[in-house]
Amino acid sequence: MVRHFLRDDDLTPGDQLAVLDLADRMKADKLGFTPLTGRSVATIFEKNSTRTRLSFEVGINQLGGQPIVIDGRTMQLGREETIEDTSRVLSRYVDAVVWRTYAQPRIVAMASASRVPVINALTDEFHPCQVLADLQTIRERLGRLAGVTLTYLGDGANNMSHSLLLGGATAGLHVRVAHPEGFAPLPDVLRDADKRAAGTGGSVTVLSDPHAAVEGTDVLVTDSWTSMGQENDGKDRVSPFRPFQINEALVERAAPGAIVLHCLPAHRGWEITDEVLDCPASAVWDEAENRLHAQKALLMWAVGV
Ligand code: CP
Ligand code: NVA
Repeated sequence: MVRHFLRDDDLTPGDQLAVLDLADRMKADKLGFTPLTGRSVATIFEKNSTRTRLSFEVGINQLGGQPIVIDGRTMQLGREETIEDTSRVLSRYVDAVVWRTYAQPRIVAMASASRVPVINALTDEFHPCQVLADLQTIRERLGRLAGVTLTYLGDGANNMSHSLLLGGATAGLHVRVAHPEGFAPLPDVLRDADKRAAGTGGSVTVLSDPHAAVEGTDVLVTDSWTSMGQENDGKDRVSPFRPFQINEALVERAAPGAIVLHCLPAHRGWEITDEVLDCPASAVWDEAENRLHAQKALLMWAVGV
């Protein structure tokens, strides 16, 4: 069976742990280890990217493979060719496909016609590669995953919220999502995260009060209030979000030794203040680095090398 990674719960708790353990080993071992020698990976971007694009390109190279980085907007996919036909062709050339696109059904269609693994490099609904790096960072800083309380504040309906729910539940985290009215996570995702948490000892809670949400939490996370593609959706993406900004007052309510994560790019002064982003509790640069290590481990799991 082809190992696709389209959303966080495509990894079982055991698979996730194995990938994270391998990611730690990849990080510690700076020596050349090239299991992708002779293999190519297409990395296709229909939206902007700095971290994901760079970390996949560098990581595939480090593993001995050939990364092929493509602006999806220049492909025939952007004209009349279907996703499935594109996928059939890609399967004849490359050993894995990494794709950043819009609606989740697009990447599901890519995977459905693919003979090689398809990896989600961000869709409107999920950002699972980011959450693997987040989990690696949490374990590095706090020494454990199961039982850790993580609070995400902001757009509960976006890709980071959904991926933290599913990926966090898979790792046995207690995931809290605090969002303004009208920005709730998708009910299906909540249900799936809840089910996953029941098997791992984690939990999933949705709140509307940001202060209650961060009380005693071990990890605070936020993300842009306006995700790529939402710029003109007609919603007020500022005023309802202001109480959810991660600032020093909110951080003070968290558990002693709590850390702060942000997938980046950050909008300083909006969803997070300069003081918090640049304080010792902020793990955002390690988090960005861990994209590289986590994705190398994920590629090895997906390709089976
Ligand atoms: N966090 C993240 O995915 O960053 P990029 O959009 O720069 O890839
Ligand atoms: N939610 C953000 C994440 C960016 C990495 C977006 O989709 O734009």
